[in-house]
Amino acid sequence: MIKTISVQQLKVGMYIEDLGMSWLNHPFLRTRRLIKSDQEIKKIEQHGLLSIKINTAKGDDVDPPGDGRARPQAMILSPAEPQSETIEPEELTSEILSALADTVSVQDEIAQATRVYNEFLNRTGIFFSQVQIGKPINLADVASDLDELIQSIFRNRYALSALVKLKTFDEYTYTHSVNVSVLALTLGRFLDFPLPKLRAVGVGALFHDLGKMAIPEKIINKPGPLNMEEFKEIQKHPYLSAKLLKNADHVSREVIECALFHHERYGGQGYPRGLKANEIPLAAQVISLADVYDAMTSDRIYRKKISPHETLRIMYAGRAVQFDPALVANLVKCLGVYPIGSLVKLNTGEMGLVVDIDSYDLMHPKIILINGSDASGRHLPQVLDLARQSEEKSKNTRRIVGVDAPEKWNIDPAKYLLNEPSFTACCSG
Ligand SMILES: [Fe+2]
Repeated sequence: MIKTISVQQLKVGMYIEDLGMSWLNHPFLRTRRLIKSDQEIKKIEQHGLLSIKINTAKGDDVDPPGDGRARPQAMILSPAEPQSETIEPEELTSEILSALADTVSVQDEIAQATRVYNEFLNRTGIFFSQVQIGKPINLADVASDLDELIQSIFRNRYALSALVKLKTFDEYTYTHSVNVSVLALTLGRFLDFPLPKLRAVGVGALFHDLGKMAIPEKIINKPGPLNMEEFKEIQKHPYLSAKLLKNADHVSREVIECALFHHERYGGQGYPRGLKANEIPLAAQVISLADVYDAMTSDRIYRKKISPHETLRIMYAGRAVQFDPALVANLVKCLGVYPIGSLVKLNTGEMGLVVDIDSYDLMHPKIILINGSDASGRHLPQVLDLARQSEEKSKNTRRIVGVDAPEKWNIDPAKYLLNEPSFTACCSG
């Protein structure tokens, strides 16, 4: 039986069915759970919840009226029985996630990140097609996927964002929305956003272009430049996205603002309102950076993609006009000067593929040296940590002198990062 109780009545052994607040606002990664300790109750109390729904079929009920007993002490531990430090997944709050940050390397996270990304991509494709035929937006349909993305980004800050540039898909619109979510969450995590704000950014990013569904496809996919009338039509899409979100249940103002203001620009030249600098909500600014980065690094009908390194250089050059300078600098820090998957040219004439980044030394990533091929044409990789090598100050130190397009050399970065056993063998530990 589902029963609403006050938070003061909550005790160990009860099963929480619903925290009574939106997924966007509460700080826990899972709502439904059995209360196992007084610490959990304290955390719930600290977040200002007044009432809560419990499921008495799965846990204890409230004490009968007139019982008069105080809340029992849970888990009274003897000195010989130290409290376990194991953290249950449902206990993960923003603070605990931060403490656990970057506990695994890129190569240890990449398989898990691939699974999470692919599942999210598949479900978003289905979800978007349902919304297109009139199904109302339901945040519950995306909540657990977005929480999985967030957990992956906290285990390793680089793996998931690297993945979005390693794969190419035909269907731009929803793949772009998924990628913007991943990139905006990555930047949000770098900026230490708390869990509720991260969720708002993830949802806002996922739905930022939803309004394009209402704009004629011939305008959206026009191969040439848009005329004034077409551009005016395109400019309606942030408002249309915001309208769709406003009509959905439990969507916060912050999420709606993400969609409405994702084309505003720092210097005031954006739309729909021409907001400037800090007038643009921070979450919307994060999404606009992610949006521009993904768009520039993707093939479009009207132009070819630009490399991640070159894209960041162009975006950095546009700081203070297009974007907040500090935010662009943070985007570079969180993706790397040479983002994972970049093909770099070395002073020795060799080429290397960036496979990991040292967040304290962005100029010297870990690369796979691409020396050549064997008789069957298979590349022979060798892993080199440029940061470690640079400390030796040897005359023979390899340095990055430029970047090149992997396609030009028929190199598939995904092959090295996702399937190359020698990468895992060489880079682990
Ligand atoms: Fe847009």
